[in-house]
Amino acid sequence: MIREIVLATRNPGKVNEIRNILKSPDIRILTLEDFPGCPEVVEDGATLEDNAVKKARVVSEFTGKTALSDDSGLEVEALNGAPGVISARFAGENCSYDDNNNKLLKLMKDISEQNSRARFKCVAALYSPGGQMRTVQGVCEGIIGREKRGDGGFGYDPLFIVPEYGKTFAELEQETKNKISHRAKAFIKVKDIILLNIL
Ligand code: IMP
Repeated sequence: MIREIVLATRNPGKVNEIRNILKSPDIRILTLEDFPGCPEVVEDGATLEDNAVKKARVVSEFTGKTALSDDSGLEVEALNGAPGVISARFAGENCSYDDNNNKLLKLMKDISEQNSRARFKCVAALYSPGGQMRTVQGVCEGIIGREKRGDGGFGYDPLFIVPEYGKTFAELEQETKNKISHRAKAFIKVKDIILLNIL
């Protein structure tokens, strides 16, 4: 049986990444391009999970199909889990990735490298037209660097060092990041849920 899933994101980079991970003859991926007029979702939840569920629910209710969404963030231990759910707007509304990285560097300047543990977390949510819902998490552990390194990726990638590689996400090959990232780990779990039909 072929399962149809609508991706609840307008980010083309994410659509590609998710398509790659979910690739299967049994899964047909639809996007919001297939459903003009789908409402925008305000990401005002208190947690990554709240936002992911809200996005998937709105898209499932609009399209009448099972929807898949995700919400991610960076959690820094020494900052009690900040920036977390406000990762995109850490330095203020409409700020750039660079603004966020500069703010993080400033906050971390007196904190030793041993105490600079951080993790990227991704929560993915599946929501069916019958109202069944399931969330899964993917986590990637790392260290916040003292300076920005690398040109790849986006967001906090230049500051996020993956100890196993001794490189930041921005220095790693895209293909490598896409295997070990928080999003990859969450979407591999999503694929199992879809294929095993256990939503
Ligand atoms: P989103 O929920 O995936 O849109 O992520 C929210 C914010 O978290 C982004 O705007 C980035 O600041 C940060 N973020 C999420 N995933 C990554 C990543 O893989 N690398 C760097 N920053 C990320």
